[in-house]
Amino acid sequence: MDITGSNGIIMENRTDEKITRRTEEDGVIFMSIKNEEDTNAAQDNGAAGEKKSEDTLILAIESSCDETAAAVVKNGREVLSNIISSQIALHTVYGGVVPEIASRKHVEKINGCVRAALAEAGITLEGIDAIAVTYGPGLVGALLVGVSEAKALSFATGKPLVGVHHIEGHICANYIEDKALEPPFMCLVASGGHSHLVYVKDYGEYDIIGQTRDDAAGEAFDKVARAIGLGYPGGPKIDAAARNGNPNAIDFPRAKTTEKSYDFSFSGLKSAVLNYINQAEMKGEEFNKDDLAASFQKAVVDVLTDHTISAAKEYGCKKIAIAGGVASNTALRERIEKECEANGMTFYRPSPVLCTDNAAMIGAAGYYEFKKGVRHGMDLNAVPNLPLGDRERRFHGRSSK
Ligand code: KG4
Ligand code: ZN
Repeated sequence: MDITGSNGIIMENRTDEKITRRTEEDGVIFMSIKNEEDTNAAQDNGAAGEKKSEDTLILAIESSCDETAAAVVKNGREVLSNIISSQIALHTVYGGVVPEIASRKHVEKINGCVRAALAEAGITLEGIDAIAVTYGPGLVGALLVGVSEAKALSFATGKPLVGVHHIEGHICANYIEDKALEPPFMCLVASGGHSHLVYVKDYGEYDIIGQTRDDAAGEAFDKVARAIGLGYPGGPKIDAAARNGNPNAIDFPRAKTTEKSYDFSFSGLKSAVLNYINQAEMKGEEFNKDDLAASFQKAVVDVLTDHTISAAKEYGCKKIAIAGGVASNTALRERIEKECEANGMTFYRPSPVLCTDNAAMIGAAGYYEFKKGVRHGMDLNAVPNLPLGDRERRFHGRSSK
């Protein structure tokens, strides 16, 4: 199955072992991402061909920010296809995501992504059991494209519609990566818009035990990267620059909110970095960008790691997972791994391409919601600030379809 055929787009060499195809069209990157394990399973079974009656296939759609994505996921864990159309190249010119451009690109790309996801999974819409879609949080115009697509598909096929919380999707990426992971576990969620410490009690049951009081971790990465001229997206660029820098060169502050709180605060750190840059510029002094990136990154990683490990100890939790775009950060992964080893804890982390936005994670979360009986109606709406962990809101927008 070749997703390039219908679009006439060029194949490129892959850079991540899970990216099985990477193509480009109008500055938009198309990627097909799968686990080796899932690819082998698909080859043995003929993709979805061997669907047993007890199997559940979810078609999942994600469009909350700047990635248009569609996936087919079997039983919440096995990825039959995972197509991402990334707009990063388009937004780079503006130094950040332009919501209007994102929405327009989603409209252009979403049908192609869904078609490619079904084709790669070797299935048609008839074989799907439910359609899962991210309905919040995120950019409202961007979310609406995915929600409208999912509603149209649900209406046309009569298949159930399941709205999914984007951050719950990020957490569920861990189920795809590690087929044996079961709740309860402690999960650090760090993305562009969220920094949460979540105790995952059971499938679909989340206790938020800490969250950011101001900037999200990813937001701090993006703002600092912009300030030192590294551009967008900031996280991966700081990550790369930090590899050449000294993390102990500059002693930036580690914010403590209160003694007993697991909340985060990154605005003080961000201001300290900006002050450092201003002072250097006022004095006409050069500063080492790599050292600054490494020192800033270490300050973020220290706080994220300390809170996560302390919370796991308090909850008597031996399993730690990470999720969200910042979870692909090399230093964070190394540091938490070390702490887990030292504390006899098991560390779960999705591979980097499953940390950043994708639809397979929505398919995993959607599967567990579907099994719990969650169904949404044709009045499902985009909810830009959808809260995490509130069971009531699962039925938000529900109607008798
Ligand atoms: O989860 P995500 O793809 O989208 C949201 O739901 O927000 O996260 C995007 C965020 C951006 O702020 C980006 O700079 C950050 O994740 N990020 C990273 C890395 N890769 C992406 N931050 C630090 N290190 C990275 N390697
Ligand atoms: Zn995300």
